[in-house]
Amino acid sequence: MAKVETAMHESNRIDFPEYLDEAVEIWNEISEWWDDRIGDGNEAQNYLIEPTQEKLLNLQPGDHVLDIACGAGRFTRRMADQGVHVTALDHSRKFIRRAKERAYGYEDRIDFHVVNAANREALAAIPGSPFDAAVCTMGLMDMAVITPLAESLPQLLKPRGKFVFSVTHPVFNSNGTRNSMEREFTENGVVEDFRVSVPPYSDACTYLGVGINGQPRAHRYFHRPISDLLRVFMQQGFALTVLEEPRFPPKAQEESSSTMSGQFWWHFPLILVARLEMLDN
Ligand SMILES: C[S@@+](CC[C@H](N)C(=O)[O-])C[C@H]1O[C@@H](n2cnc3c(N)ncnc32)[C@H](O)[C@@H]1O
Repeated sequence: MAKVETAMHESNRIDFPEYLDEAVEIWNEISEWWDDRIGDGNEAQNYLIEPTQEKLLNLQPGDHVLDIACGAGRFTRRMADQGVHVTALDHSRKFIRRAKERAYGYEDRIDFHVVNAANREALAAIPGSPFDAAVCTMGLMDMAVITPLAESLPQLLKPRGKFVFSVTHPVFNSNGTRNSMEREFTENGVVEDFRVSVPPYSDACTYLGVGINGQPRAHRYFHRPISDLLRVFMQQGFALTVLEEPRFPPKAQEESSSTMSGQFWWHFPLILVARLEMLDN
């Protein structure tokens, strides 16, 4: 992820409401390009994010799931393929338009809504609650404000309902981390030494960056330390029941390019995936 703007740090702050409008504008602008590039799946989606979320959600046919920040609905459709009904939302009307186009034939299993997850009233008005589970695939680090979502989820979920999310790893893949590799030619062969350089981590901050190289406009990320990210949900009665840092399987390593950036993520976690469960809503 390229860093294109100096990060701004403010202690004890995890929400950045002043960027809500900008985020809608940017995601509307880049949504179609984004979906053209990765809407059919990439290695991170296929090997890390989607199988891990699927395992943690453990959905059963007939379940009803809330998909928050669904984008063009790739994981939405994957869940619907398991016989569950999905109510999916995103703040970008262009992403929802693309999601509806891609969900041709899924009309009986998916309903899409243009909703900003920072808006409590809009969340409360979503039809279909309470849900068996909620999921947010690679969305929280792109969301300027997450407290209203955390506060709304207990009402949106059934008792002991699950919330599963994935994010770019807050330590190894956030706020302009830098990757490097040194190659040493020793008498025993070539030794490769992979390193990550982590910028200040402990304060939440916002910065502009790119998730896909070449994207037409940088979008805004919201870096939050892992403890802050989990605390906002745990304060609402959620317990953390699983935390995963999925690894590329050997098969993916064989298939993937031998470039340094490809190999880097065999040694460090690209993604963090969590399952939270409501204790007593
Ligand atoms: C990296 S994309 C992930 C999209 C999709 N979940 C996927 O995995 O393909 C991040 C998504 O978050 C959405 N988003 C960001 N802030 C949001 C908000 N406040 N409310 C709803 N959606 C939001 C963006 O429009 C975008 O679709």
